Amino acid sequence: MQKISVFHGPNLNLLGRREPEHYGRLTLEEINARLKEMAQAAGFEADCRQTNHEGILLDWIHTLTPEDFLILNPGAFTHTSYALRDAIAGVNVPALEVHLSNIHAREEFRSRSLIAPVCRGQISGLGAESYVLAMDYAIRWLQGQGVKK
Ligand code: DQA
Repeated sequence: MQKISVFHGPNLNLLGRREPEHYGRLTLEEINARLKEMAQAAGFEADCRQTNHEGILLDWIHTLTPEDFLILNPGAFTHTSYALRDAIAGVNVPALEVHLSNIHAREEFRSRSLIAPVCRGQISGLGAESYVLAMDYAIRWLQGQGVKK
């Protein structure tokens, strides 16, 4: 069965108490619950996971196929991880990069994403709505309504 994977990278387990001026007050559990609900209503399963470890994220990505869909908030790995970029390219899974904060409106180092070039797109700066819009797109993509290239 095609699955929608939602992978959250480092420090996102702290949501709710982490710099709420940037990341809001919702916890990761609350965000995941909303995403699972959306996927389920459309007949899909959302596999939501978080890790603080780059290698674990790579191992999870290696299990995906071009038939799946990946919603990924790579956290700070966005700006540092060539390995993460190569993993996504290597399995050729359609992916969206998601950020709660607007990475283009913060410190300069955040405005460069190593991951975006191997994703279908990037949604940044809309708080938890960034994930909701990504899930909406993932569902439409898997239903065949998304514009496949
Ligand atoms: C983030 C933005 C990153 O720059 C930061 O390192 C994070 C969170 C976001 O969701 O806004 O950990 O990915």
